Amino acid sequence: MKGIILAGGTGSRLSPSTNSINKHLLAVYDKPMIYYPLSILMLGGIKEIMIITTAHDRSRFEELLGDGSTLGISLTYHEQVEPNGIPEALIIGEKFIGNDDVTLILGDNIFYGQGFTNILRSAIQSHDHATIFGYRVKDPRRFGVVEFDEQQKVVSLEEKPEDPKSDFAVTGLYIYDNQAVKMAKKLHLSARGELEITDVNKAYLTKDQLKVQLLGRGFAWMDAGTHESLYEASEFVRNIQQRQGFKLACLEEISFYMGYLSKEVLYKKGKSMEKNDYGQYLMEIAGRKHSQQYWDSIERNPVLGLVENE
Ligand code: G1P
Repeated sequence: MKGIILAGGTGSRLSPSTNSINKHLLAVYDKPMIYYPLSILMLGGIKEIMIITTAHDRSRFEELLGDGSTLGISLTYHEQVEPNGIPEALIIGEKFIGNDDVTLILGDNIFYGQGFTNILRSAIQSHDHATIFGYRVKDPRRFGVVEFDEQQKVVSLEEKPEDPKSDFAVTGLYIYDNQAVKMAKKLHLSARGELEITDVNKAYLTKDQLKVQLLGRGFAWMDAGTHESLYEASEFVRNIQQRQGFKLACLEEISFYMGYLSKEVLYKKGKSMEKNDYGQYLMEIAGRKHSQQYWDSIERNPVLGLVENE
């Protein structure tokens, strides 16, 4: 399974904050936005990941994350010349994907909820043709919308409908088999001048190969693409972190729990940032590995999902 993060675009909805910097490098509370989708792919067990961004911003992402080796993963970068829509990521990534399956995630999507790691891993390991995630929202008109019949079978998918047939938005996380590349290549531009990921999902639906996994009311899904939603996402992350003392999307922590980083390396990383809270957190995790309190807290950690209640 390969992973792709789409972190291109102009970020015009966040202007002027994005006039000189890519939206996905802006902070969501205490870390860059791209950490959040990257954490999801890492939690899914995906180790080969391509980040697609603009020519202008590529070097900044490389500076931030490098080739991924310090996190025990492999990161490559590619440019998207124009923001031609989400499925273009599959076309750009064709060579990288090769004959593999691919999980595509949008760079501004934040997922948080108990049991999600297991949901994700089982979707990835199931080798279904396509799995997407539905989430109830107040204003479905802003999103791709999925309609179900009484047996909860998917009946239709629509991109930003005027008159939504349900309240279930399609989130920006798509797990596809290799057909997705061919499907993306066959698409035509929509009325808004983009290739639409909803059309890829519809192609799977037509073949009766689309699974929509619903994320329930105890779950948080946010996109941080507007000032309001970016602020809300930061506030959300802050609240959870302050309350529980765990960090969301702490890449080094995930890498450590996945077994890619040793305790010593984790400690060193923390030490190099010891003047700030992030560095202190890494040192604390490295230090408390053997205490009972530590293991107790891990068991309760819904993000890491090492022990699930669901
Ligand atoms: C895109 C997709 C839409 C999906 C949304 C999730 O919307 O086109 O189907 O529901 O991402 O974030 P856009 O970011 O183009 O508004």
